[in-house]
Amino acid sequence: MYLCNFNYHSMTKSISGFSRLSKSKKIDWIVDTYFTNNKNAKKIIKQYWNTDEQLQSLHDEFIENTITNYYLPLGVAPNFLINGTLHTIPMAIEESSVVAAASKAAKFWLDRGGFKADVISTTKIGQVHFKYFGNKEKLISFFNELKPALFKETENITQNMVKRGGGIKDIELKDKTHKIEGYFQLHATFETLDAMGANFINSCLEQFSKTLKEKAQNYVAFDEEEKDIDVIMSILSNYVPECLVKAEVSCPISELAEGTDIDPYEFADKFVQAVQIAEVEPYRAVTHNKGVMNGIDAVVLATGNDFRAIEACVHAYASRNGSYSSLTHASVENDQFKFWIEIPLALGTVGGLTSLHPLVKLSLELLHKPTAQDLMKIVAVAGLAQNFAALRSLTTTGIQKGHMKMHLKNILNQFQATEEEKTKLLEQFKDQVVTHSAVVEAIEKLRS
Ligand code: HMG
Repeated sequence: MYLCNFNYHSMTKSISGFSRLSKSKKIDWIVDTYFTNNKNAKKIIKQYWNTDEQLQSLHDEFIENTITNYYLPLGVAPNFLINGTLHTIPMAIEESSVVAAASKAAKFWLDRGGFKADVISTTKIGQVHFKYFGNKEKLISFFNELKPALFKETENITQNMVKRGGGIKDIELKDKTHKIEGYFQLHATFETLDAMGANFINSCLEQFSKTLKEKAQNYVAFDEEEKDIDVIMSILSNYVPECLVKAEVSCPISELAEGTDIDPYEFADKFVQAVQIAEVEPYRAVTHNKGVMNGIDAVVLATGNDFRAIEACVHAYASRNGSYSSLTHASVENDQFKFWIEIPLALGTVGGLTSLHPLVKLSLELLHKPTAQDLMKIVAVAGLAQNFAALRSLTTTGIQKGHMKMHLKNILNQFQATEEEKTKLLEQFKDQVVTHSAVVEAIEKLRS
């Protein structure tokens, strides 16, 4: 039995003890509360269960209160030549034309030397935020004595990471009292190798916090009030401007438009101007970067990484100079076209979902079991390729032509077109511009 309270303001019910109900009782409650007029609700929920019960229970346990699975298509974009190695990149995304665009850009650059990518740095960050209202000089002396103990007392957490070549790189005391009275930080940097490192970093930080408080209690130079350091929280930062990767493509301008009737010099010029606009105009930069993230998020998801952390970090990085700006850059010099991205990406290829989700494992296998640094390069390249494809369309044909061409099947599905109708209409729209109204008109005509 569950306890329900009717909430007259929202016209729905609240419930206590929901988390302790069985999956089927949770579904009953949802259906009885929200879907009294939708007889299909339970069927839809159950339609997405996996018939393999073990696999379903694995998915049930990834999160809490699971009632079903939410599918995204997993597509692949072949022909990515990165630092001389060919890759087929897995992409999990719901939006049509993204995988096609990535594939088209990959194929284009395959014949022009491919993508070059380099990891610039791999430093992650975590902070203990605390309050101290005493004498600052005493705090600095205390910190200098404390620092070796911070390393020592986290040895049980760090020893395996250290053996592999990672661990805590440094710990600094940061004075933030100009922002909030009494606010200081232990600002620590970490090398977490192939792990994204969130658990490792947070465990170290929580131990730092304990050590900080305990040692302060016994620090003889502190007076009684100074001993009571107030730790507010200990948590990693998802902002990792020093976990940075660069990817680029370049070719002689004359090779930019082979096989098309576009003038390569005009194209290069317009392309560079389009990037310049995104560098200075935040309204454009957001859409420009959304196009970059089409590629990045899709690979991040397919490889079981945390796309919210990546998104939050990337957009903070895009604003690092005080105004939101483009993540990619382009230049034309000495008849050479160059297009590049420099982006912070804290990714993992071990831990988390990487060894749990069968499709994540498969995606990583498809990518030749990359190290975290390899994956940083692949993800940055996917973002750059995506942006190249979008800008190429935007500065030549316009985006709608290709996008709607890919979206055509979705429109046909919306109208429950039969296989026969689909074949006829796909053929018809091969030489006709796809718009929603043109497709609707064509379906109606066919059906009449
Ligand atoms: P197209 O020239 O009509 O394609 O481009 P094509 O039929 O000539 O095929 C060329 C290649 O494209 C193919 O080579 C594939 O690699 C790929 P092939 O396999 O034949 O050797 N390709 C496909 N791959 C898989 N399935 C397909 C498929 N079709 C082509 N069905 C295309 C069509 C859509 C690729 C092109 O117009 C394009 O790149 N458009 C850009 C699309 C885009 O950026 N979409 C993202 C969504 S829009 C958005 O959210 C972001 C945006 O606002 C960002 C911004 O403003 O910067 C645009």
